[in-house]
Amino acid sequence: MAQNGTAENGVPPNPAALPQPCKLTHITHTKLFINNEWQSSVKGKTFLTFNPATGCEICEVEEADKADVDKAVEAARAAMRRASPWRRMDVSSRGRLLNKLADLLDRDRTLLATMESMDSGKPFLQSFFIDLEGSIKTLRYYAGWADKIHGKTMPVDDNFMCFTKHEPVGVCGAIIPWNFPLLMFTWKIAPALCCGNTVVIKPAEQTPLTALHMGALIKEAGFPPGVVNIVPGFGPTAGAAIASHMGIDKVAFTGSTEVGQLIKEAAARSNLKRVTLELGGKNPCIVFADSDLLLAVQEAQKGAFYNQGQCCTAASRVFVEERVYDEFVRLSVESAEKIIAGDPMDPRTSHGPQINQQQFDKILELVESGKKEGAKLECGGLALRDKGLFIQPTVFSDVRDHMRLAKEEVFGPVQCILKFKSEEEAIERANNSQYGLTAAVFTRSVERAVSVSSALQAGTVWVNCYNALHAQAPFGGYKMSGNGRELGEYALAEYTEVKTVTIKLNEKLSV
Ligand code: NAI
Ligand code: MG
Repeated sequence: MAQNGTAENGVPPNPAALPQPCKLTHITHTKLFINNEWQSSVKGKTFLTFNPATGCEICEVEEADKADVDKAVEAARAAMRRASPWRRMDVSSRGRLLNKLADLLDRDRTLLATMESMDSGKPFLQSFFIDLEGSIKTLRYYAGWADKIHGKTMPVDDNFMCFTKHEPVGVCGAIIPWNFPLLMFTWKIAPALCCGNTVVIKPAEQTPLTALHMGALIKEAGFPPGVVNIVPGFGPTAGAAIASHMGIDKVAFTGSTEVGQLIKEAAARSNLKRVTLELGGKNPCIVFADSDLLLAVQEAQKGAFYNQGQCCTAASRVFVEERVYDEFVRLSVESAEKIIAGDPMDPRTSHGPQINQQQFDKILELVESGKKEGAKLECGGLALRDKGLFIQPTVFSDVRDHMRLAKEEVFGPVQCILKFKSEEEAIERANNSQYGLTAAVFTRSVERAVSVSSALQAGTVWVNCYNALHAQAPFGGYKMSGNGRELGEYALAEYTEVKTVTIKLNEKLSV
């Protein structure tokens, strides 16, 4: 999920000017952030966060539970109250606050990128150039919207004046995953805040650190107390409390399809809060024989291995036209074998560890299933190094549609290459999935690019590129990949209620 990368795969234009991670010996913010204050959890519980590259503990973090979510919601409701400082704030000032927050992210860029890499295992340069850049751009994009969100005037009959207003939904809950901790934090808070909502956000239990640092920056930027509240904790406790809370008006979730279903169910059973979901994918990437093959190999591999394959957008089913299939596989293996895995803080590294033991085991089990079901393991397939949760970039050819590798979300560095003969066949097989998040097409034919991208059931289609995300462009899924859209102008609709005001005019004015 490389949002608007200024640099391809995190490699900066001038290697002599490489940024360096900072020395982080102490993590300052480890408590819950409620009402612009650092608070201990009600039950006094804490949990540990680990560095997946070493398996070492980083620090202990206060653990939010239902009672803490209740406190956070109370603060967020108070901040939303009529005539509160946040409600009274001139809308342009909201934009200025979001821009100030973006400035502070930029100031603390090295620190945040270092923290993100320690907590999640991402290569530092990718955090620095891609995650931080995408987060800053998201904040600035929505800062620009703050004073441009408005309704319409309806031409009804002359006895009435009728117009709409776009008002904030209220208190917005957000539950985010560990694969893009900071980027997902900004994707959730930026549209919510620019529309005037308040937020209770739960970072993933594996990666709470950059979210907590954001609390400090939110306070420093000058957001009033209660506007953003951050409650690190676990899914079945803090996350479930958000999903079923009667005081939360909307919840935005990114994560697994299974938990997405639980969230929607909890929302339905509690107060019918609005729900937006960004879930899994089994994204097809179709390579036609008329494509620029080297480009297709490079981009498909970026799609498969970026962020150690831990992307909802991962190119996990690469369909290659029969005529160029063998060449595509050969070049893909050659390229996969060149990837440098290792210490995420080393600037030469482009491949880090998986997030945790559970994900690591799941990926290796799926690799075994591929071998058993008759796919051909071309390279990789094994754990790397004796410490940390590293898995070799893995390429399978001869993958068939019925295999688990072709159906289940692997969420690891495993590229599955399938063969097709005709365009019709490729489209049908690509669409034969419960998911519909992204798709990609590689071809030199404009006609084919247009017709195939129209036929694919996916919220985003990339043509001759991969993972090209921009704050301006909506992102979300068809089918079981989710509901609603994030980013772009479209996301504003998810964070506003439309109010119709109809005014009866003075009879003297009417005919
Ligand atoms: P998950 O869906 O359990 O976790 C995502 C977030 O949901 C975390 O903040 C977690 O604490 C929260 N959560 C978990 N259970 C919850 C509940 N009952 N109520 C409310 N919130 C809850 O995903 P997990 O277990 O980390 O990864 C499992 C699989 O999910 C991955 O292998 C991958 O296939 C998929 N996934 C997809 C992501 C995406 O970007 N769409 C991100 C992370 C995981
Ligand atoms: Mg961690």
